[in-house]
Amino acid sequence: MEIKGLKIHFTDKQKSKISESLKDILDTGQLAAGKYVQAFEQNWSKLNNCKFGVAVSNGGAALEVLFRSLNLNGKEVILPTNTFIATYNSVMFAGAKPILADVSYKNMCLDLKNIKKNYNSNTGAVCVVHIGGIITNEIEDIKKFCDEKKIFLIEDAAHAHGSTFNGKYSGEFGVGAAYSFFSTKTFTSGEGGMVLTNDEKLSEKCFSMRDYGKKISMGVCAYSIFWKLSNE
Ligand SMILES: Cc1ncc(COP(=O)(O)O)c(C=O)c1O
Repeated sequence: MEIKGLKIHFTDKQKSKISESLKDILDTGQLAAGKYVQAFEQNWSKLNNCKFGVAVSNGGAALEVLFRSLNLNGKEVILPTNTFIATYNSVMFAGAKPILADVSYKNMCLDLKNIKKNYNSNTGAVCVVHIGGIITNEIEDIKKFCDEKKIFLIEDAAHAHGSTFNGKYSGEFGVGAAYSFFSTKTFTSGEGGMVLTNDEKLSEKCFSMRDYGKKISMGVCAYSIFWKLSNE
């Protein structure tokens, strides 16, 4: 039996809105990091009670940008066994050592007992994964533990669009959260990801990190290339 992939339905109204916006984007000549990306960053961060949003190409990139910006090179990062490979990879790509910890049978999320079992003096961060959109009811205790040990709490929020615990959204618990907007997610842009944080300095690092440390945006580069081509 063939299992069909996800097929997203768009209404005619949505299709014409998207077509209009595409024309607008082509008219600006700026194909990356343009006004729609900025509007998305502002709206998504506001919706989740966070001050800053940094849009990237996917959820894995959001995690990597976050880990790299926190300088976790050489440190251990505790993450749950119950996650997608992207969480593990992004820790490795940032030069840190992923430490897999078991999850609670009650909610399939990383719990404090297993974090404590895997903690040592070289632990630099804990990365919780809100699996299936569940924010563990131990999240405040995990945060307290991380603060006491002076290590970062990071949230993999790839599944957690709109999830809350005690009225708080993902991104409000840890130093930053990484969202995915891949087409199988409950909120999608086809491909895409975003870091949310309330830490201004961290957001600046993430902005720079997403574009190879550059200060000018990709959109400006794309515009220059189009200008050059159209004038040849
Ligand atoms: C828990 C988790 N983290 C990270 C990712 C990576 O997101 P993306 O596919 O947008 O890179 C996924 C993707 O499914 C995921 O399930």
